[in-house]
Amino acid sequence: MFGLWKTWKALEARGIMGINRRNADYVLKYNKRSLYPVVDDKILTKERAIAAGIHVPEMYGIISTEKEIDKLDEILDGRSDFVIKPAQGAGGDGILVVADRFEGRYRTVSGKLLSHEEIEHQISSILTGLYSLGGHRDRALIEYRVVPDQIFKSISYEGVPDIRIIVLMGYPVMAMLRLPTRQSGGKANLHQGAIGVGVDLATGVTLRGTWLNNIITKHPDTTNAVDGVQLPYWDGFMSLAASCYELCGLGYIGVDMVLDQEKGPLILELNARPGLNIQIANDCGLTLRTHAVEARLEALKSAGVVETPQERVQFVQEMFGHIPPVEG
Ligand SMILES: Nc1ncnc2c1ncn2[C@@H]1O[C@H](COP(=O)(O)OP(=O)(O)O)[C@@H](O)[C@H]1O
Ligand SMILES: [Mg+2]
Repeated sequence: MFGLWKTWKALEARGIMGINRRNADYVLKYNKRSLYPVVDDKILTKERAIAAGIHVPEMYGIISTEKEIDKLDEILDGRSDFVIKPAQGAGGDGILVVADRFEGRYRTVSGKLLSHEEIEHQISSILTGLYSLGGHRDRALIEYRVVPDQIFKSISYEGVPDIRIIVLMGYPVMAMLRLPTRQSGGKANLHQGAIGVGVDLATGVTLRGTWLNNIITKHPDTTNAVDGVQLPYWDGFMSLAASCYELCGLGYIGVDMVLDQEKGPLILELNARPGLNIQIANDCGLTLRTHAVEARLEALKSAGVVETPQERVQFVQEMFGHIPPVEG
């Protein structure tokens, strides 16, 4: 293991994108302010996805006021596993993943037992805006708990791994698999302590991992290798991510997806300010790729051509794959 700082410096020479460049040249340039609500509110994202025929975890209900907290039992309808999250939350904060009930209590995916009152208290905190961007009043969303596909059993620890793909104007530019750890409490957010593992865009095979400022090759809880794993439905995830441009209209987004054991690939959420650590996990700077996509867009524009999501995926897989596809 070696320090992240050294890696970051080494990547600088190779087109690493820093926070200022991301904000000025990508977030501000490609993301229209008026479109933010669709991605900043998970309830709106869900509604938009459903309208576009894109699969998402089923919504059981919404709680918008203190008074509505009484509706929780009705919303849960006897289910023993479910997820409660702030509609406008970020970074995994405020999310409760309940896996089971035990003697009148709720057991979270990391094994914590919570009383009904504690759950109500959590919802109340969500409503006051404790976890929302800018501290605004928020709504609590209650939804289906994703059960991860078996493929992740050996390389993950509790919770649900997710796949993050950064998409510029509908072109996927970089991907990462995020694996929950004991520390991250079943959530796949890096700053909760999850691992980020780079993914080859062409094949869906995992590259190396980063965890808490270190480069790693093994999962700290399971000790299994996190690199060299073939993710299933890879081309499906790529097209799903590419089509999110048409879904939300924002030109620079991070698309978070999961693979449910029964329901297959689902969209979890979209981010208008995706993080930059994905570059460490891929050992590659983002600007090398975003510049290539911008050059492509210029060329297509002068030719009067607009590419379909399928064509866009093919382009990036040929351009950015670590292992070039075999010529047919
Ligand atoms: N429906 C769900 N079922 C199981 N785990 C979930 C569910 N929703 C979220 N999670 C876990 O919590 C993490 C964060 O959820 P997400 O919806 O992306 O919110 P945030 O904006 O806080 O990142 C996910 O990466 C996943 O590990
Ligand atoms: Mg997320």
